[in-house]
Amino acid sequence: MNFLFIGDIVGRGGRQAVKELVPELRREFNCPFCIANGENMASGSGLNAKCVKDISDYVDVITTGDHIWDQKTFEHEIKQFDKVLRPANLSDKQPGNGWKIFRNPGSGEFAVINLQGTIFVRESAYCPFETVEKILEEIPSRIKCIIVDFHAEATSEKAAMGYFLEGKVTAVLGTHTHVQTADAKILPGGTAYITDVGMTGAERSVLGRDVNAVVEKFRTGLPRRFTVIETGIRLDAIVVSYNLTTGEATAIKNISRMSSI
Ligand SMILES: [Fe+2]
Ligand SMILES: [Fe+2]
Repeated sequence: MNFLFIGDIVGRGGRQAVKELVPELRREFNCPFCIANGENMASGSGLNAKCVKDISDYVDVITTGDHIWDQKTFEHEIKQFDKVLRPANLSDKQPGNGWKIFRNPGSGEFAVINLQGTIFVRESAYCPFETVEKILEEIPSRIKCIIVDFHAEATSEKAAMGYFLEGKVTAVLGTHTHVQTADAKILPGGTAYITDVGMTGAERSVLGRDVNAVVEKFRTGLPRRFTVIETGIRLDAIVVSYNLTTGEATAIKNISRMSSI
């Protein structure tokens, strides 16, 4: 069995690229279900109901991260959407779910856990290691496929999470940095791992934003408006193959594909 995981979708261009490329990627790599990180879908900052509806027919689960509440309406809207997760290690007072069991006609049940890192990330979060340990105790033993989106900045924190969960989950996939890393591998015990899946955003950009503005900000230290680039969109993703009976990952493949947008 295979699933597709798409890196942080940035802006309208990123959503359009998902609509253009995901159906063919799902066919090509035979993926009955698809998870996408959508924390930058609304003009690069957070997400809202319109964005979720926009890509809902194309993805089965939308994970998020530190930008989850950037759009003020979303704390009220999140409850309408079963497929959206927010980081599990945020305050229990925040709306939404941090993990959930999903059912897919092609692959049966699978659990997805969304976690946020604590190093070099704006918002405070509880310890992701303790949080995931508790969640794994709660997941019924019949669920064999468990996928973790670890949305974090520090490569060390992500690598440590991969080794912490090796043999316990099907995949630990890093998001947030918008740059795909070259370390996709299968850890002992059958856990697929990559430090960062990358993004679905403009190929010529700095993490999806206007190159000139970001360069200017770094050169001068002056505030600049970082416009989201909505053309020349590249979709970064991962395909994980796993054993349906045991949940063990057998292969991980990285993908980067240009859209026509
Ligand atoms: Fe992020
Ligand atoms: Fe992001």
